[in-house]
Amino acid sequence: MFTIITGAQFGDEGKGKIVDLISNEYDIIVRFQGGDNAGHTVQVGDSIYKLHLIPSGFLLNKKVLIGPGVVLNPKVLLDEIEMLKKSGIEIEGVIGIDAKLSVIMPYHIELDSLREEMRTEKIGTTKRGIGFAYIDKVARDEIQIKDITDEATFRLRLGEISEQKISAIKSLNGDPSIVMDEKLIKEYLVFGEKLKNFITDVSYDINKALESGENVLAEGAQGTHLDVIHGTQKFVTSSSTIAGSACTNLGVGPTKVDKVIGIVKAYITRVGEGPLPTELLCETGEQIQKAGGEFGTTTGRMRRCGWFDMPLIRKAIYLNGYTDIILTKLDVLAGLDTIKICTGYELDGKTIEYPPELVSELMRCVPIYKEFSGFNEDISEVKNYNSLPTSAKDYVEYLENEMGVHIEYVSVGPKREQTFKR
Ligand code: GDP
Ligand code: IMO
Ligand code: MG
Repeated sequence: MFTIITGAQFGDEGKGKIVDLISNEYDIIVRFQGGDNAGHTVQVGDSIYKLHLIPSGFLLNKKVLIGPGVVLNPKVLLDEIEMLKKSGIEIEGVIGIDAKLSVIMPYHIELDSLREEMRTEKIGTTKRGIGFAYIDKVARDEIQIKDITDEATFRLRLGEISEQKISAIKSLNGDPSIVMDEKLIKEYLVFGEKLKNFITDVSYDINKALESGENVLAEGAQGTHLDVIHGTQKFVTSSSTIAGSACTNLGVGPTKVDKVIGIVKAYITRVGEGPLPTELLCETGEQIQKAGGEFGTTTGRMRRCGWFDMPLIRKAIYLNGYTDIILTKLDVLAGLDTIKICTGYELDGKTIEYPPELVSELMRCVPIYKEFSGFNEDISEVKNYNSLPTSAKDYVEYLENEMGVHIEYVSVGPKREQTFKR
């Protein structure tokens, strides 16, 4: 079985928690895009793991892979491996990384920061060098992970592109010395040495596994509306975050896909700039932000919060073709007198139910709301759907009917046991 899981909103929907939870049904968990801009939280008992690159299935001793469509900062990966080792989790023999992964170099991170500072209208990137590493992939100027395992190849590749990197940094008034800094080059060679035993052909491994009847779960990073093609450009990340991207990035044919799961938060958040039609710039927004602990896992920035936006979910359902939905963070809405769902927008005197394609138009949309009674009870210890307060069930059932996709699980807290099947 091949399942793809993606975030249906702007990221941070709880993918890390859910992937960990359902990974017991799978043999291999694989990341297919993005890089360490992602921050996925897994809480098991009192231990909290914040992961930027390694898919969550490792906690259950599943094989975890990082596919060639990811842009990889080798230092972040090695730090993550070390962090897990310190927690008594041995990842050697469990993790595999693709030979063709694009390496995030110090100059990518520098260019990301410099460019962001220069922009009059900021994107609010994570400054992890993601966009600039993807630029190099498309320009065929990338350095692949295999390259840093061999000094001669690495120096040759770097030599080929150093001049344009130096002039790019200079043009943004930065210090170009990091491009050919000998200390950094040696450091990257050490990373290569440490990572070389993990290198594998991820596409082959997955296709072989599927052929022999194993189950594979592809874990997306970011969220649907941060997609570089279908998202809210320019306020997006630099990779394709939707389900089809898993096939392209992993080299698995679309005929192999059995299930596509969308992770949907019971409200909406966004970190960084860009349109968020239902944003709550008021006390209610602050209440949700506090109750949901809505701070970026990677950057620590405060996440903007808003009411559930159905038009954006309708688009996410089209773009991903979800077969199932998992609803997270329902517990966060406890204590609100009224809960609202945006059912459509008003744009230029017209009512629309689907987001306009252009970001300039989305920015002018005024949400139309349907109100629901809130619930006061703390639901974080609720063990089954029927024990939820009636108003919480009304909310979930309205969402399910409107989405037209089955809500398979409801999550009411960060831990595994704070989840129930419907
Ligand atoms: P991801 O990027 O999609 O993996 O999500 P993040 O880990 O960045 O952010 C989700 C946050 O919400 C994390 O701190 C999770 O531990 C937490 N979380 C996940 N599911 C739930 C839930 O159902 N209720 C609550 N209260 N927290 C949750
Ligand atoms: P996970 O996987 C939320 C946002 C950044 C910024 C934009 C571009 O944890 O859901 P980038 O550094 O990618 O060039 O930044 O994308 N962004 C995320 N927002 N969750 C994420 O990942 C994100 N990864 C990037 O805040 O607005
Ligand atoms: Mg996150």
